[in-house]
Amino acid sequence: MPFYYVANWKMNMHYQKAANFCSEQYESLIQLAAEKNAFLILCPSAVVLASVSAMFKETEIQIGAQDCSPFKEGAHTGDISAQSLMEAGASYCIIGHSERRIEWGETDEIIAQKMVRLFEVGIRPIICIGETKEAFDQGTTFEFLARQLDPLIEAIIQINSFSSSRHRIFIAYEPIWAIGSGIVPEKVYLESIFSWLKEYCTRINNLVPVRFLYGGSVVPEHIFYLKKVSGVEGFLIGGASIDFQMFKKIVVL
Ligand code: PGA
Repeated sequence: MPFYYVANWKMNMHYQKAANFCSEQYESLIQLAAEKNAFLILCPSAVVLASVSAMFKETEIQIGAQDCSPFKEGAHTGDISAQSLMEAGASYCIIGHSERRIEWGETDEIIAQKMVRLFEVGIRPIICIGETKEAFDQGTTFEFLARQLDPLIEAIIQINSFSSSRHRIFIAYEPIWAIGSGIVPEKVYLESIFSWLKEYCTRINNLVPVRFLYGGSVVPEHIFYLKKVSGVEGFLIGGASIDFQMFKKIVVL
């Protein structure tokens, strides 16, 4: 199975930089996806998403948003609806990133609402979960992850019937202490997490397919090892995704 590579550009690329990156690397990105038979998903900021998606229309490169509103529509100043993101060309959307949880106080319930909004318009949610350093040190990671997953699982069980075969969710396991730190967890630790996640999500397996990603300091130095972790089906890449050569190495190695 080919790996998924989700480029989370965060707020690291302003409008013009993102547009330049895409035009400069247009051919290379398409070639990279084809040669490595990889799923490449670019997640620019919302303002440039429509232009990036127009650029890559009719190519294998997919576009994702970095967040969406938990509301469907209406008086929610500054929010961006899932419907708008879909119309602008997003087929994926990251939700629940730890930066949003920490900086904006997003709760698991809000994230579950966002997930439902995305399902309504056929966008595939990429849901970030991951424990704090404190939970890791205390050995309470599974409890931490279960708390994050439960409202999502409940919401999926409530939906019960998914109308479109396009529906699919991605769980991106990103230990907070590994994000941007240069540290990646040990292989045995990661394997225990991914096998637990798979088991924990069996309740929703018959409702919607779940794919599992790893995120947190995914850089060329670590990728060879990370690709060997069983249960990992792709990567959520932050810092290294805004440098094409680094991103390419991650896909190629
Ligand atoms: P990083 O970020 O690759 O820079 O660690 C990953 C993320 O936050 O999604």
